[in-house]
Amino acid sequence: MEDNSNQIELEPSELGTKVYWDSIYERDKHNFEDHGDVGEIWFGEDSELRILRWLTKSNVPTDKKIIDLGCGNGMMLIELAREGYNNLTGVDYCESAIELSKSIIKTQSMDHIKLQVADLTQDCNLGVFDIVLDKGTFDAISLSPEDAQSKKLIYLKNVSKMLNDAGLFVITSCNWTESELIKQFSTGTWYYSLA
Ligand SMILES: C[S@@+](CC[C@H](N)C(=O)[O-])C[C@H]1O[C@@H](n2cnc3c(N)ncnc32)[C@H](O)[C@@H]1O
Repeated sequence: MEDNSNQIELEPSELGTKVYWDSIYERDKHNFEDHGDVGEIWFGEDSELRILRWLTKSNVPTDKKIIDLGCGNGMMLIELAREGYNNLTGVDYCESAIELSKSIIKTQSMDHIKLQVADLTQDCNLGVFDIVLDKGTFDAISLSPEDAQSKKLIYLKNVSKMLNDAGLFVITSCNWTESELIKQFSTGTWYYSLA
């Protein structure tokens, strides 16, 4: 009998739509220009610290190539740069998120951080990385009202392509349990770590 146990789905939500994220980052862009508010850090500053601590504990050298998938306002990348990581890329499918993160990063004189618009539910060629970070993006994709299952599969293929042979994938999720994540990421060869 076919095992469909890794095909688990969440209740669709507006957080799984681009319209929602476009409106959030348009608002945040305006707020940043107006009074310097960078907007929300998803899962709070603690989640950034946990990832930084995990990278330090795992002795990840600061020249390792790191990509943040669905980087939003880019604050995770800024924290990584503050810790000395110097080969950083962020992608998001919202142009306004990338514009916001570029504006914030400019004020920090961290122009070495590369930023790019990319939809991770489309076939992407973003290069190969040592560390692939996801903080809340797989969650958002999982909440899509339009065929979340296919979108997740394309996302998984993209991440798999991006990881080099010894690459590590670090995911932070509030919608999935550890075992649910492992089940869904169990296709192909994966190195995963829960921060
Ligand atoms: C919960 S927010 C997290 C933002 C950021 N990682 C953080 O921790 O603050 C989810 C992010 O995923 C992005 N996103 C959702 N679906 C995406 C997709 N298909 N491709 C790229 N980015 C996506 C959203 O625009 C949003 O910035």
